[in-house]
Amino acid sequence: MQSSSRKTAFLLSMCLLVAGLAGAAPSLAADAAFDGATGVLTLPVVDVPGTGVVNAGLRLSKENPIEFTLQSAQVYTTPVTLNNKSAQVRSGGVLYIPSVQVGSQLYELNMTLIKPDPITFGNLQVVGVTNVTPPAPDPLQLSITAGESRYAQLCASCHGNNGEGALQGPSLTSSALTTFSPLRVKINNTMPLGNSSACVDSGSSTCATDVTNFIINRLQR
Ligand code: HEC
Repeated sequence: MQSSSRKTAFLLSMCLLVAGLAGAAPSLAADAAFDGATGVLTLPVVDVPGTGVVNAGLRLSKENPIEFTLQSAQVYTTPVTLNNKSAQVRSGGVLYIPSVQVGSQLYELNMTLIKPDPITFGNLQVVGVTNVTPPAPDPLQLSITAGESRYAQLCASCHGNNGEGALQGPSLTSSALTTFSPLRVKINNTMPLGNSSACVDSGSSTCATDVTNFIINRLQR
C-alpha cells in the first residue's frame, strides 16, 4: 500500500522535474519501447493526472528485482490525444504501460513507485504478453538480396564487385541503363557475356529481375 504522502511526494517531484523541462514541444513518437542494449524504456505518452501528458524516459537501474529510474520527462505543450497505447500514472503511484515491445513480444505492465527521489518504479507486474507477428518480408528486398549473390557469382568477375567496371566489362554504375525494363532485358538476353542462359527470367528463375533490382537499388545508388 502506498501512503498518500508518498504519492503526493511523487506527484510533486514529477511536477518539479517536468516544470524545468517544459517548453520544448517534442514530436509525438509511436509506442513505448524498451532498448535492451541501453536499458532505456521510452514512454512517448504518459498521462500524469494533475501534471499533464508527459514524454518520459526511464532507465533500468536494477535487474533483480527490476527497477526503473526516471531520467527525463517533458510535458507536451501542445494538446495530445490519449489512446489505448498511452501509459498512465494511476492512483497509488502505479505506472500502467499498456504496450511495450521487448524483443518479439508485446508486454502489458504495471510498475509501482518505490522511491520518490530519484523517481524509481519497481514491483514490475506483467499483466499480459502477446507475440508480435513479424512483418512480411518485403519482396523487393528479397529480390535485391537474391540478386546480390547472383551478381557476385555471375557478373562481378567482369564488372567488378561494386559494378565499377573491370578489364573485361564496362562500369555498370556509370551505365546509361538505369531503369528497370531496359536493364533487365539487356541482362536477360545477353549477360553473362558468352553464357547468357545462366541469368534469365524463366520458369522458377528470377535471376535477371533480381540482378536488375540489385544493380539499380544498390550499385547505382
Ligand atoms: C565475361 C565477362 C562478362 C560477364 C561475366 C558479364 N558481363 Fe556484362 N558485359 C560484358 C561486356 C564486355 C559488356 C559490353 C558489351 C555489351 O554490352 O555486350 C557488358 C555489358 C553489360 C551491360 C551493359 C552496360 C552498358 O552500359 O551498356 C550490362 C547492364 C551488363 N553487362 C550486366 C551484366 C550482368 C548483370 C552480368 C551478370 C549476370 C554480366 N553483365 C556478366 C562482360 C561481361
